[in-house]
Amino acid sequence: MPPQFQKFLLQLQKSQKENNYILMLLGSYKGGEKDLRSCTIRPVLVRGNLQFQAVFRYTSRDVTKVWTSLELQSHVAARIGHSGFRDAVLQTKLGEFAVHVVTKDRWKWKQKLVTNAKEVSLEHNRVKERLIPESRPFLRGLGLTDNHGKVQAHSMDKFVQINRFVEMMAAPLATLQQKEIRLWDMGAGKGYVTFAMYDYLERVLGKMPKVTAVEQRAELVAQGNKLAQAVGFDHLTFRAESIDRARVEADVVIALHACDTATDDAIFHGIRGGAQVIAVAPCCHKEVRRAMAKKLPMEIALKTRFGILKEREAEMVTDALRALLLEYAGYQVTLADFVSDVHTPKNVLLLAVKNSQPLSAQKAKELWDQAEHFLAVYGLRTQRLFGLLEGWKRSA
Ligand SMILES: C[S@@+](CC[C@H](N)C(=O)[O-])C[C@H]1O[C@@H](n2cnc3c(N)ncnc32)[C@H](O)[C@@H]1O
Repeated sequence: MPPQFQKFLLQLQKSQKENNYILMLLGSYKGGEKDLRSCTIRPVLVRGNLQFQAVFRYTSRDVTKVWTSLELQSHVAARIGHSGFRDAVLQTKLGEFAVHVVTKDRWKWKQKLVTNAKEVSLEHNRVKERLIPESRPFLRGLGLTDNHGKVQAHSMDKFVQINRFVEMMAAPLATLQQKEIRLWDMGAGKGYVTFAMYDYLERVLGKMPKVTAVEQRAELVAQGNKLAQAVGFDHLTFRAESIDRARVEADVVIALHACDTATDDAIFHGIRGGAQVIAVAPCCHKEVRRAMAKKLPMEIALKTRFGILKEREAEMVTDALRALLLEYAGYQVTLADFVSDVHTPKNVLLLAVKNSQPLSAQKAKELWDQAEHFLAVYGLRTQRLFGLLEGWKRSA
């Protein structure tokens, strides 16, 4: 995603969070909707809750939609672009922010900060909105909500976690223009995130999801398929197989807390299967912890002599290496805390979006050499993802 667009989306989120949002204008429409010209989005109060009213102006009619804050973020992320609205202006109490799409890869950014902007005439009575609201029937089937559609107290952490994961996927998913989205969830377990992603793609983004959940435990696969049928998620299939054996052709690959090197297998299959977006939240990092040399350079040994710090060092080395190897494979990578560590200690999300242009051979070699050097510093002969990519490189 162009950095100018990222800045714009961040300003939007900030303005909503800090109650500074005034107005958004979208123009210069170049997408497939006949006669659509512009869109104006204002905040409104609906039964005491802050929402956003979008008025789409066509040549001879207007169409009005009302969105929650999170829906607004998703729609904006999906609708601004080379094949959508090429101009977007966000007015906030702090200033005006604008992006202009010149070509697919060239975006312009403008900001004008103000000191005396007018107040938005709204009394805010905000309730926490979720992209996946608690009323969704599949949440009941997964045991997260009760018979009244309320999140059960003991399931709140999981509910927050899946919503946060979906939120973090909103911007990368907005880079996918196609209607049909093939998503693979590796090590899907009961399918909390699998169902949530299906729901988000279909209900919020209006896409046609084709979701495959890979899970080695047959009983979870049977349960998942039964629930998918019960809630009418017709293109969601759970498969009882091991991640390393999956034959993947995907637009999106996700893996949330797949154990140890299963995360590497998921990343590798995402890369080899042509995924445009890969998102993994790693679990344990046993492989590197065990394989780190006994004798390490003094700067590192000072940390790894303590078990707890060795654990963290292994985590950092593994995830830094995965990020580097994803860059080598032609992805732009970001790492983020995806949910507060009150909810889970396994908290890092690696988010990779494929570059529009392949890397030059020289850049790729530079990154590969860095990875080899990195392994050598820690006395590691190899690492799962490194080994898989090395084998693939050799066979190519
Ligand atoms: C910690 S659970 C996470 C489940 C789910 N992604 C979530 O976040 O709710 C990890 C799951 O990955 C599955 N798993 C681990 N290694 C696997 C492999 N190599 N192939 C298929 N499934 C695997 C386990 O059976 C388990 O259900």
